[in-house]
Amino acid sequence: MPELTYLNGKIFEAGETRISTNDRGFIFGDGIYEVVRSYNGKLFGLEEHLRRLQQSADAIDLKLPHTLEEFQELVETLNRKSELLETLVYIQVTRGTEPRNHLFSLDLPPNVFITIRALPDIPGEIYTKGVSAVTVHDGRWNMCHVKSISLLANVLAKHEARKQGAYEAIFVRENGVVTEASSSNVFMVSGGILHTHPADNRILNGITRQFILKLCDELNIPTEVRPYSKDELRRADEVFCTNSVHEVTPVVTVDGMTIGSGRPGPITNQLMRAYRQLVKSVISNQ
Ligand SMILES: Cc1ncc(COP(=O)(O)O)c(C=O)c1O
Repeated sequence: MPELTYLNGKIFEAGETRISTNDRGFIFGDGIYEVVRSYNGKLFGLEEHLRRLQQSADAIDLKLPHTLEEFQELVETLNRKSELLETLVYIQVTRGTEPRNHLFSLDLPPNVFITIRALPDIPGEIYTKGVSAVTVHDGRWNMCHVKSISLLANVLAKHEARKQGAYEAIFVRENGVVTEASSSNVFMVSGGILHTHPADNRILNGITRQFILKLCDELNIPTEVRPYSKDELRRADEVFCTNSVHEVTPVVTVDGMTIGSGRPGPITNQLMRAYRQLVKSVISNQ
C-alpha cells in the first residue's frame, strides 16, 4: 500500500479520504500535528512526539479524543498495516467540524487524521556535501512552541529559499536573532561550542534537537543554549539543521557565504553518526 490514511476510526485508500469543508483545520488552520519517522518497521521517538502533541493540545485548549497510550497503539497498528518498513507518519488533530465561527463549541469532537507513507527518497548528497540556506524574516506568531498546522509563514519561507536557489530557509527575528528554520531546528558550532536557540515560544522544541543535546552531553561536546545573531551564524565554523525526517543535515552556505571549510564539519559529522547510532540501538531494542 503506497499510502494508508486514517480518519476518525476508519482506514481509507490513498485519495479516498473525505472531510467536511467545515473542518476547523480546513477553515482556520485550527489544529496541531506531529511527524514521526519509522525505521525498519519501528517508530522512532513516538512517545516523545505524542507527549509534544499533548503539550500542543494543552496550549490551544484542545482536548485530545484519545489517551497517549491509545494514540500509540493506533499509530503502531496503522504503521504495521501499511506493510512499509521506512515510513513517514503524519498525525493531525483538528478542533472538529461545525459551521464557520471563530468561537468554537466546547463539546466539539476533534478530527483525528493520520497518514502512513513510504519515506520519500532523501538524496545522500545532502549529508555528504551539505546544503545551502538563506535567512528570511521571522514574522511568525509568538507560539512557535505549538506544532500548529497553520504553516503559511513556513511555507512562504521555503518558497523564498527555492526562489533564491537554496534548500532551507532560516528564520531571523527583527532583532537579528536566529530562531529556527522553516521545517527544522538550527545549530551552529563556534569555537568548538554548539549553539542553539532556547526552547521557548520562538521555536518548536524539536524531538531531534532534544536528542542532539543529550548526545552532546554524552559525547562531551560543549553546548550553549542561547539566542545568537545572524552575523554569528554566518561566521560559524559549522551549521546544521535537524528534524525527525532528515535527521542531521549539514548547512555549508548561508546567504551565499561559505560556512567553515564549505564541507560538513567534524562536530556535525560526529553528531550525524551518533544520531544514526542512537536510532539503530533504540529500534533494535523495541
Ligand atoms: C518549524 C520546525 N522546527 C523544528 C522542527 C524539528 O522538529 P522534530 O525534530 O521534532 O522533527 C520542525 C519539524 O517539522 C519544524 O517544522
